[in-house]
Amino acid sequence: MLILLDTANLEKIKRLNDLYPLDGVTTNPSIIAKEDKDFLELLAEIRNIIGEDKMLHAQVLSTKAEEMIEEAEFLAKKFGENLYIKIPVIPEGIKAIKNLSKQGVKITATAVFTPQQAFMAAKAGADFVAPYVNRLDNISADGIKVVVEIIELFKVHRLDTKVIAASFKNINQIHQCLLQGSQAVTANPDLIEKLVYHPMTNLGVEGFIADWERVYGEGKKVN
Ligand code: E4P
Repeated sequence: MLILLDTANLEKIKRLNDLYPLDGVTTNPSIIAKEDKDFLELLAEIRNIIGEDKMLHAQVLSTKAEEMIEEAEFLAKKFGENLYIKIPVIPEGIKAIKNLSKQGVKITATAVFTPQQAFMAAKAGADFVAPYVNRLDNISADGIKVVVEIIELFKVHRLDTKVIAASFKNINQIHQCLLQGSQAVTANPDLIEKLVYHPMTNLGVEGFIADWERVYGEGKKVN
């Protein structure tokens, strides 16, 4: 089970990568644009923070297969091994996925809204598919149901492609995806923090310290 951070904010990546068992970082053009920095330098800094052994997902901008392939090859050459090229599941995207997967470029098929799109991307050779859970919920569809059906389709047809569920607005959506067997989730920093935060836990810790210090004195540790 993989947990990825959906941001290009360097401070947040540093903090959360240090604290939590993260498997990498996902970006998209909107996330990158928010930082208003040189795109390649930003990706290089992210790579530097997370190291070579964690995944980095970066998206192409073109909408024509040939140009997507050129962008993907450029990024793959620059950022090497653990780079996943995100390609939207438009028809030209599926064509690009077919080509790039044959070359051994790792692919995350993105902007997935239906199980059928996920199936076609998997058949074309994508390593991951990214269904957009909250954006589905926002149009009165059922994001979790789409995730469940993709997982089932891949199982029935013995496809190796994994699901990286994306686009979350609350931790229950993440919880449901994990419960249903999504192999990966990617979420923004606030939601990753919320996976750990609970006020009762904090209250409990405060109580332990207060009780201990009443007897052993302030700042006394066990060692
Ligand atoms: C991941 O692939 C997507 O880029 C991302 O999760 C979209 O999230 P949003 O719907 O919050 O923009």
